Order: sequence, then C-alpha cells, then structure tokens
Amino acid sequence: MQATTPHPLIFTLPKLRETLLWHYRRLSESSRSLRFMGKIKEDVLAKTANSSSPDITFGVESDGAYRGILELYITGAGRAEIGLSVEDAYQGRGIGRALFRRGLAEARARRLSSVDVHFLRSNHAIRKLCIEAGGDIRATGSECMSTIEL
Ligand SMILES: CC(C)(COP(=O)(O)OP(=O)(O)OC[C@H]1O[C@@H](n2cnc3c(N)ncnc32)[C@H](O)[C@@H]1OP(=O)(O)O)[C@@H](O)C(=O)NCCC(=O)NCCS
Repeated sequence: MQATTPHPLIFTLPKLRETLLWHYRRLSESSRSLRFMGKIKEDVLAKTANSSSPDITFGVESDGAYRGILELYITGAGRAEIGLSVEDAYQGRGIGRALFRRGLAEARARRLSSVDVHFLRSNHAIRKLCIEAGGDIRATGSECMSTIEL
C-alpha cells in the first residue's frame, strides 16, 4: 500500500479514541492549534479524543503508525463537518490532500449535500484544499469557514 493511501478506521470506539489521542499527541503545538482553532492543553486534548465519535474516520498509515487522520461528523440535514491533521514530519507529502479527497468522496457516496471545514485564517494549506474542492471561504475575525457543496 502506498504511504498516502487513506483507509477507513473500522475500530471499536475505545480503540478509535485511543488512536485519535495518540495522533493528536504527536502533533506539534502549532499543528494542534491549527487543528483545534487555538491552543489546547493536554487534559483538554485527552477529553476531546475521549469524547469524539466521528461518523467516518480515515487514516494514512506510514512507518507502522497512523500519520494522518480525517474525521467526518454528520451534523444533520445532509451536512457534515471535516477535521483532519497530519503529523508534522509527514506534512507536505500529499497525505492531507489524499485524506481530504477521500473524505469528500465518502460524503458524496453517502449522499450528503455539503461539508463544512473550520480553520484559522493563517491556515494556508487547508484553505488551498478547500478552494481546490470548490469550497467558498467566509472569514470572521481570525477564523474561516469553507462550505463545499457536493
Ligand atoms: C492541513 C494539513 C492536513 C495538510 O496536510 P499535508 O499532508 O501537509 O498536505 P499536502 O501535502 O497534501 O499539501 C496540500 C497543499 O497544501 C499546500 N501547503 C502546505 N503547507 C502550506 C503553507 N504553509 N502555505 C501554503 N500552502 C501550503 C501544499 O503545498 C499542497 O499544495 P500543492 O501540492 O499544490 O503544493 C496539515 O498541514 C495539518 O495537519 N495541519 C495541522 C492541522 C490542520 O490545520 N488541520 C486543518 C483544520 S481542521
């Protein structure tokens, strides 16, 4: 399997949460801030992982561990939200784009109508991926939201 190929994480909820926490802990402080829209303390990080219940999760495995993870949350009325992150040392290799495209393809396959992505204004990488996917960009202060119609 290629190092950028995403596959679904079909785990028990405890195992999924453990995998998410392991991944979040391996992100740098700045990547964590980008992922969670601000500084996040260790205990909040653990609470976040331990209360996460994404409807769909994809991971990219490389060097024996998940280096990138995309979470898709169905929020109702045909809409969903995506959050994703790639370990710093593995960024810039196409993993984020592969995960994002896979998440959007899955949302389309499930006949969802749109996907929202929240990000900081300074986050050029995710902005680029949203625009590539046809998303609009709406900014409020330091935060942005992109809606991708499927
Ligand atoms: C956003 C993120 C997932 C992208 O993952 P990645 O594996 O580095 O992305 P890719 O390698 O697929 O690159 C995607 C595009 O973003 C571009 N990019 C990456 N960093 C960039 C930067 N600082 N400025 C401008 N473009 C950037 C890349 O050049 C690439 O475009 P190209 O192929 O046309 O050159 C990753 O940076 C990350 O985990 N960031 C922290 C968490 C986060 O921001 N999550 C999103 C909000 S939920």
